[in-house]
Amino acid sequence: MKRILFILLVSLTLVSCSKDETSTTQKQPTASVAVEPVKQSSRSELASQSDFEFSKVVSGGKLFKQNCAECHGVNAQGTPGWRKRKPDGKLKPPPLNGTGHMWHHSRAVLTNLIINGTLSQGGGMPAWGGKLTQQEIDAIITWIQSKWPEEAYKSWLEINNR
Ligand code: HEC
Repeated sequence: MKRILFILLVSLTLVSCSKDETSTTQKQPTASVAVEPVKQSSRSELASQSDFEFSKVVSGGKLFKQNCAECHGVNAQGTPGWRKRKPDGKLKPPPLNGTGHMWHHSRAVLTNLIINGTLSQGGGMPAWGGKLTQQEIDAIITWIQSKWPEEAYKSWLEINNR
């Protein structure tokens, strides 16, 4: 029963996320163009947080390339046309670089999703529990987050701290 609830929750989140993606994507270019100089300094502010430890980002990047890049792309850019489901109804690997909806999910939700994958629920994401340690998953999430635009990271912080 719990598992079914989890599946429902994940699918609902994925569905509800896809609705407001367009507005997010439209906002991003303006934000990054307008605040370029500010972005630099806030970046270093963010980088000073323990979340962005240099060693974590480096090891997370390596692990991502070894395990995740074949589907999500070397720069976590996802698959072209990822918003449209495949003919079999499955989702294509979405971008994780801040242009999709990964930042709508707290670290706990993301960790669970990576540990359990979605294959068992008819999705296309393999399970990583038992293959990657908690620390490795944590480092991968950190590397992915280091690619996000500042706005996405800030919004994620609010969601994560709820
Ligand atoms: C075989 C292809 C494949 C591999 C390898 C893969 N994924 Fe995925 N991933 C997917 C698909 C497909 C989805 C879309 C969800 C679904 O199918 O249910 C997804 C979804 C996700 C999501 C949710 C994104 C969102 O917008 O909510 C995250 C986070 C994620 N993957 C992280 C990872 C990480 C980290 C790795 C490596 C450890 C990885 N994936 C490896 C195929 C893959």
